[in-house]
Amino acid sequence: MAILVCGGAGYIGSHTVHVLIERGEKVVIVDNLQTGHVEAVNPAAIFYRGDIRNAAALEKIFTENQIEAVIHFAANSLVGESVTNPLKYFNNNVGGMQTLLEAMVKFGVDKIIFSSTAAVYGEPEKIPVTETAATNPTNPYGESKLIMEKIMRWVSRANGLKFVSLRYFNAAGALETGTLGEDHATETHLIPLILQVPLGRRDHITIFGDDYPTPDGTCLRDYVHVMDLASAHILALDYLRNGGSSEIFNLGNGRGFSVKEIIAAAEKVTGKKIKTEIGARRAGDPAQLIASSDKAKKILHWAPKFSSVEKIIEDAWNWHKNNPDGYKK
Ligand code: UFG
Repeated sequence: MAILVCGGAGYIGSHTVHVLIERGEKVVIVDNLQTGHVEAVNPAAIFYRGDIRNAAALEKIFTENQIEAVIHFAANSLVGESVTNPLKYFNNNVGGMQTLLEAMVKFGVDKIIFSSTAAVYGEPEKIPVTETAATNPTNPYGESKLIMEKIMRWVSRANGLKFVSLRYFNAAGALETGTLGEDHATETHLIPLILQVPLGRRDHITIFGDDYPTPDGTCLRDYVHVMDLASAHILALDYLRNGGSSEIFNLGNGRGFSVKEIIAAAEKVTGKKIKTEIGARRAGDPAQLIASSDKAKKILHWAPKFSSVEKIIEDAWNWHKNNPDGYKK
């Protein structure tokens, strides 16, 4: 029996596949390579280049392989783009979930682990954010992920499917060896953008607002190492294999770091001065987003190994330094 990883050529997907293969799982990847990279596809996995919205492509995969469970990362994930082009997000993210679940029900595959996001909460009322907090997404990306969770819940009630939804806070870092990492054609995330300065690819980093109600005026985020996210997927898989019920879990380290603190940590890690400029606030950015991951720790026995922000930046730096052009060398 194999694990089907949808979006296994993407950032978090490729790191999770790495861990699955290391522990001896059989892995099948489907990825349309719209944002994923063929170079990030693990050679030990069976790879299908295809789109999960294509029912015939899924039918072929489910027919040719004995799929035990699905780990689903395949989605568009740019907050800003989702605001200007919401239909792209509803078509790809929500549409993809629908065809995927249709295939799973048809082939009797009853376990799915889903890549969700803190963006489902919107502007949180209470920090740290628990899974019972209100969900009021402030952008179509977060809305699409929330709808995908709801679709899974209804299908689980009707068809007996079990799901685990993992709501990541700020994913960052890379595989320690520097062979897998973050490579987005349009980079919007803070840590890779900061590291472009010491790489000589960018003159400075713009801090999006320093007038937030936080200790140094810049936004607080909960950065979580991509390898700790990967391990949470493995624990979720084992949890469902052991008969666990459908659940939602937050994944973060429970500590907020400000934009200025991240820049200071990046200066320490790279040994280089990083030039900054203060810019306007970015629309839709909450002042702070910090997770309570107590539920994942208690039920999944998740224990993040790389909670230091220096370690997260060190691994990201190792990847970017060795691959300044990402996977396209
Ligand atoms: N930031 C800057 N300058 C930059 C880029 C980012 O100051 O050039 C700031 C942002 O304003 C924010 C922090 O750095 O305060 C982190 O920004 P990211 O874009 O790296 O991450 P976000 O917190 O915006 O996004 C993350 C996930 C999304 C998810 C979102 C939920 O990456 O997938 O949290 O709000 F949708």
